[in-house]
Amino acid sequence: MLTSVQRTVIEADPINYPFGNTRSRNVLQDFNYELGGLNPSCSSLKVLFLGSGDLRNILQVSRNKSLKGMQIHANDRNPSVVARNITILKIISASDFNPEDDEDIAFLWDVWYNLEWPEVSRNRFQGVLKDLLNGVFPENVSVPKTSQSEMLKKVWGSWLSVLSKTESEARVLMEKVGLERKQCICKNCFPINPEKMENANIFDDFFSAVIDVLASYLERSIGLEGLNDSERQNIREEAKRYFEKGSCRLENDIKIVCLNPTLLDHATLRWIVNCFLCPFYGYLPLLKEELVTSIKSKMMIRSCQKILKNLLSCYRKRLIDGKTFELFFYLEDALEFCYSENVKKFDVIDCSNAADHVGLVNLILACSGKLSDHPSAMLITETMTWFDFGMGSVQLYLEKALCCPLSMIPTIYGLRLKSRIELGLPELVDLRCPTPPPVEVCWQKALPFHNVVMSASPALSEFLKQLANVCFDAKFPLRITHPSESDCGMLLYTPQTFSYVVNSMIQRLGGDHWLKKDVRPAEMQPNFQLARRTLDAWKEGQKILKFSAKIPSSSFNKFLHCAAVSGGPTLRFIIFPKAKHGNCSDFFGPDVHFIDNFEVKLEKSSTGFQDVSISFLLIPNHGLKKTHRAIIVDIHHGSEVVVFKSFESVQVEDWSVPYPFVPSKIQPEVPFHEEFHMKVYSCVESEDQFRLKIKITSPINVSDIKVLRIHRAPCESCHEITLSLMQQEYFKPLSLSFPYPIIIGNIRATLHRKGRYVDLVLKKALWEPWPCECRPADNLHNVLDPDQLKPWKEEESLQPSLKTHFRSQFNIRHLENNSLMEESSLNFIRFVIIDLFMDLSRFVTIQRMNAPTPDWFFLVHRPFSTTPTGKPFLLLSAFDSRLAEKLTADGKWSQKKTGENLKRVFPGGVEAFNIPIQTTEDSQLLRFVLRLNRSKIIPSKWQKKNLTLGEDSPWMATFVSPLYSDNPHLDVESSDASN
Ligand SMILES: C[S@@+](CC[C@H](N)C(=O)[O-])C[C@H]1O[C@@H](n2cnc3c(N)ncnc32)[C@H](O)[C@@H]1O
Repeated sequence: MLTSVQRTVIEADPINYPFGNTRSRNVLQDFNYELGGLNPSCSSLKVLFLGSGDLRNILQVSRNKSLKGMQIHANDRNPSVVARNITILKIISASDFNPEDDEDIAFLWDVWYNLEWPEVSRNRFQGVLKDLLNGVFPENVSVPKTSQSEMLKKVWGSWLSVLSKTESEARVLMEKVGLERKQCICKNCFPINPEKMENANIFDDFFSAVIDVLASYLERSIGLEGLNDSERQNIREEAKRYFEKGSCRLENDIKIVCLNPTLLDHATLRWIVNCFLCPFYGYLPLLKEELVTSIKSKMMIRSCQKILKNLLSCYRKRLIDGKTFELFFYLEDALEFCYSENVKKFDVIDCSNAADHVGLVNLILACSGKLSDHPSAMLITETMTWFDFGMGSVQLYLEKALCCPLSMIPTIYGLRLKSRIELGLPELVDLRCPTPPPVEVCWQKALPFHNVVMSASPALSEFLKQLANVCFDAKFPLRITHPSESDCGMLLYTPQTFSYVVNSMIQRLGGDHWLKKDVRPAEMQPNFQLARRTLDAWKEGQKILKFSAKIPSSSFNKFLHCAAVSGGPTLRFIIFPKAKHGNCSDFFGPDVHFIDNFEVKLEKSSTGFQDVSISFLLIPNHGLKKTHRAIIVDIHHGSEVVVFKSFESVQVEDWSVPYPFVPSKIQPEVPFHEEFHMKVYSCVESEDQFRLKIKITSPINVSDIKVLRIHRAPCESCHEITLSLMQQEYFKPLSLSFPYPIIIGNIRATLHRKGRYVDLVLKKALWEPWPCECRPADNLHNVLDPDQLKPWKEEESLQPSLKTHFRSQFNIRHLENNSLMEESSLNFIRFVIIDLFMDLSRFVTIQRMNAPTPDWFFLVHRPFSTTPTGKPFLLLSAFDSRLAEKLTADGKWSQKKTGENLKRVFPGGVEAFNIPIQTTEDSQLLRFVLRLNRSKIIPSKWQKKNLTLGEDSPWMATFVSPLYSDNPHLDVESSDASN
């Protein structure tokens, strides 16, 4: 009931992911525990995996060697996924398990991935299940909630019963599931005429053709260039063998005796695994050193098992070394988990691709309240369905899903985007890969406003309008109103989403002065009035009632059957006058109430759903008791089921769970002196600036104002400024902070002596690293050391060529037809990067058209190198001549120093290659990229010795690497067509 997500009945059309479909990664990779003073030898780091899926990401965390204590909390709503994870942990934690032992790894691989099992696996697994049913877990694993561990026991019990079947029963089940699997693959991958499914010969041919395509998809996703045709053919055949039977193993001629019960739906023993799923996807794209080429057969199994063994060894090493690694499992909805009381805060929260299932706004609202105060604490979200929704742009995906431009996110959601998605993707996307890559987005808490009272503004009004339009969307059925629109989870935004967003803002901004009452026309949609009144009363702490009604399971099953035509049903609960007829057109108009937030409980059995009940919240004086009845509709299809014919049949109880976003007590500082003080009167935020009016209360005339910027060079942005008036003896300085940093060199403060106010305009640092990105060198974490990087070797066969890296900065179609290429600054900088790599000059200048002197002088350090993730890396010693001018004007640098330095680094008589730059934007963006990259490396030995580096120096050690396109090879139209 606490979740703000609209109810979908995933149980009606479940797609199971017993194992993952994306490569795992260490979510602690970028976590800098030293930054917050976390002592790795005694503190315990807390990591939460929401919608964890399989264990691989969890095991990756054990790679961190320095942290002594770690608590891993893993949530998933699928009982089989949680039961499998605990089972696999039980297997790999046994003292006699050895990842390098062939039998052990074959058994584990069977459990993790294979549908068909030999006797040895069955017997060994039975022993594991008996232990789990007796509560014998690995020492470091627990399930804190009893009701959830009972549910898990049911799952283990069901698995044991599958393994205990007689030979003939097992054969019947194998045949049934084998056929279901084939049908499921055929039906879900490519629509087939149902009649053809009946004809065995046609069906077999069709199945064979489908798995050919699936195998070819997999081969194209492998991520390695330079494989020859026969190697690619081998990979396709290996994948096809997996798709054929649902199993892949190194051993040949194995006698199959039973099915892997962990891959079946535990309640119905049906096959409901996603049709594209293949074990190999969880390890792709492969790095070149991961592909085992020594033996040409079964290269994929060998390569994936090698990666898995390495991961298992890290985990076991951590256990053996006595470093704690406690694991807690939760079997429930991710958002209900985040909003439930007594849940701790976490230093890192990884959400897998839950945003695609629950909507990004719903997800980040629930998670941001659970992020710890550690300065490096981060939230990681991922999306696999961004491409069509964002029309091939990650930025557009985020701006659409969050209903605001990137630069408004800190104010609206209290988060900062750590991933610099405006500069493209961080890694190369293999051009052969047939699908857009999953995109990971990392978030951190933004700093709060201090002493700033936010005002209403066109930017905030526009945001509220857009959000209201999606949260209060009354139109349905969608098959008629919005046919086949991709929504990335936004369909599941509800009135509760709107209420949570607004109230989380009120909590953070210390009030609702910014909330104009007339900016939400869509919200005034009359069908949602009762839902709004109920949410408002709940927020105010007034009495709320929880109503529960049973729905006859036969009619509910019939309803779901109709609704399932359109995929997973999405439900809307409607309360409407008894007198109304009850067909679709009657569900609108006054006195009809839409409730999109409610809970449905159902128990799944082999014959359908049982014990179906619905609960919802209402204010006590709803006034509908005698006059209204209720139905549930599926908003896609429009089908409906009666919930109750009269309120009399409904159970009522008090609802006393507190509203999650209570207003905070944040108050601006109390004036030091009643008679003499400054106070922010208004702050209007727009996409690129804050404009403040500051009132001065003073009985005497004020003469001048000074603005102090609190920043640390070389960073040119800051979050805090302090205003002081010349009459310091009377006025306490006014300090202000902003969640989005501002440019220190562009602050305009105008004192209006007569009106006694200050007009302050602060430009947002849109193209300048944030203060937290310019950490002092001793706090650098996870940075590259250019002296340690391997040189680039173009001839290495499996590595993508330099040309591929450069081309991947653009959409290939646009490269082929230049007129399609967007004339953006980002594209211009991408060409500059290619020039820097390709021209052989050691000395390069960058000069704006008609400017008397270059903006930049570069010493280019060739030959270039390879980053650990395989990107080309070109080290630069860069002299920023505009900054030199500023520093010279401030007395921190001198012309003489410039001359001496330039002479030393660029000895006379050498021709420099000049790259001309056209616009100020191009120049600003290039500067941003160079300054951002500076924070990702330490200077090389040569640079430390030969450059005058430091806070007040125009020199920097930096680099360039390609800025990869979000969309190098697909265009939205062709992807639409293929979908
Ligand atoms: C598609 S899988 C993640 C796969 C991931 N890409 C990987 O390779 O590991 C998503 C997982 O999230 C879980 N899930 C989806 N929605 C959830 C929710 N609202 N609450 C909890 N778990 C959820 C599913 O049960 C599934 O195990």
